[in-house]
Amino acid sequence: MQGVAVLPHDFLAEPYKIKMVEPIRMTSRAERERLIKEAGYNMFFLRAEDIYIDLLTDSGTSAMSQEQWSALMLGDEAYAGSRSFYRLRDTVESITGYPYVLPAHQGRAAEKIVMDMLVKDGAVIPGNMHFDTTRAHMQLRGGKPLDLIIAEGLQPQDRRPFKGNIDLEKLENVLAQHGRGKIPFVLLTITCNNNGGQPASLANIRAAGAIARRHGIPLFFDIARFAENCYFIHAREEGCEQKSIREIAREIFSCGDGCMMSSKKDGLVNMGGFMAFNDRSLFEQACQLSIINEGFPTYGGMAGRDMEALARGLEEVLELPYLQFRVGQVAYLAERLRAAGVPIVEPAGGHAVYIDGRRFLPHIPQEQFPAQVISIALYIEGGIRTLELGSIVFAEKDKETGEYVYPELDLLRLAIPRRVYTNSHMDYVAAHVIDLYQRRHTLKGLKIVYQPPVARHFTCRLEPL
Ligand code: F0G
Repeated sequence: MQGVAVLPHDFLAEPYKIKMVEPIRMTSRAERERLIKEAGYNMFFLRAEDIYIDLLTDSGTSAMSQEQWSALMLGDEAYAGSRSFYRLRDTVESITGYPYVLPAHQGRAAEKIVMDMLVKDGAVIPGNMHFDTTRAHMQLRGGKPLDLIIAEGLQPQDRRPFKGNIDLEKLENVLAQHGRGKIPFVLLTITCNNNGGQPASLANIRAAGAIARRHGIPLFFDIARFAENCYFIHAREEGCEQKSIREIAREIFSCGDGCMMSSKKDGLVNMGGFMAFNDRSLFEQACQLSIINEGFPTYGGMAGRDMEALARGLEEVLELPYLQFRVGQVAYLAERLRAAGVPIVEPAGGHAVYIDGRRFLPHIPQEQFPAQVISIALYIEGGIRTLELGSIVFAEKDKETGEYVYPELDLLRLAIPRRVYTNSHMDYVAAHVIDLYQRRHTLKGLKIVYQPPVARHFTCRLEPL
């Protein structure tokens, strides 16, 4: 049967069917030109209703399953001792092995409690690459976050399978230099959001755990996207193809002492988070902070029904067909773009495709925000919303010269919500990106006309040049 397209053996269409639909609205090009202008060319000021496909973030944007929606009805809203809390606690313990579980309203709330507890002025906190809010909480306590990602992790064209690995030699040196006195813990973020959702290997995690243990320093995990990391290990790491996702997760957690989670990602819910620890006294300290900040430790800022849905989501996220399709869908979009020559971060990570703005638009200098130029054009052409993670978000003002220092990478993130869009939505997105790439020479730069003193990307306003 020559000429018939052969599907790859692991091809899987969506492992679910649609029972309830949420309409999305296509606006006209003229409307979108007006709307984005009114929004100051800032994606955060657009109304979600005016967007056709929303790839701003994969955080809190998942679709829940019928089991999760049913679980909502079982929520126990007791202030203390809620049945739903115990269900969540048992689920987290069965996955992580950590017996002491404390809910929080989202990831950054868990980060605040952990940092308030453990980070003292002058502390050094090494990790592969800390997420922004994590870093900010460390700095607010006078700590110094240290990113020790392997060098290849920052090279968008390097196709290595585990670009989220921590540099073990650097880790060893930092721990030897500062020791337990200055280093409260080591933090591994799996997958690593800030370099494109890249995974760390089981071998790397084991080795990092052994180094930390040798120095008597705890190892914690930021597990916002841990199931996707486990899947990459299953699919890519030698000797792991026979292990189940659950076994891989258990092995990862056995290398460390605790974790923080934003369950808005791999929890498959729209809001929530938690911490989990091996150590009882640490947990008890965290409970004290929770009581004044988040709530009594058996709800910690979450409704009982939401803890039920989260407990269920944490089971579903470990199912192999789910993960195959999930990570496969991201790879599917990435592959379409790559085949058309669009410069992206390779290989694609677990939750998003990142376009390399500087290589996409070499004629636009970084101070004119190439990735944001692409973002705006994708909205005007296709009603697609994306997120700049480049010169607007990461440029830092030099204290002496007052000049901006721009980051090495100027990226545009196309984050894929979980179980929300089909592959034909991905085809639509790919068609628009590719069309834009073919007309890239017609695109022009931007300037900032208003910006606040901190976190400027959320509220700045821009104008085309
Ligand atoms: N850790 C990682 C790795 C994250 O990606 C995020 C959030 C957090 C912690 C904080 O969790 O939002 O529940 O408070 N990332 C979102 C994103 C905002 O769009 O990547 P949160």
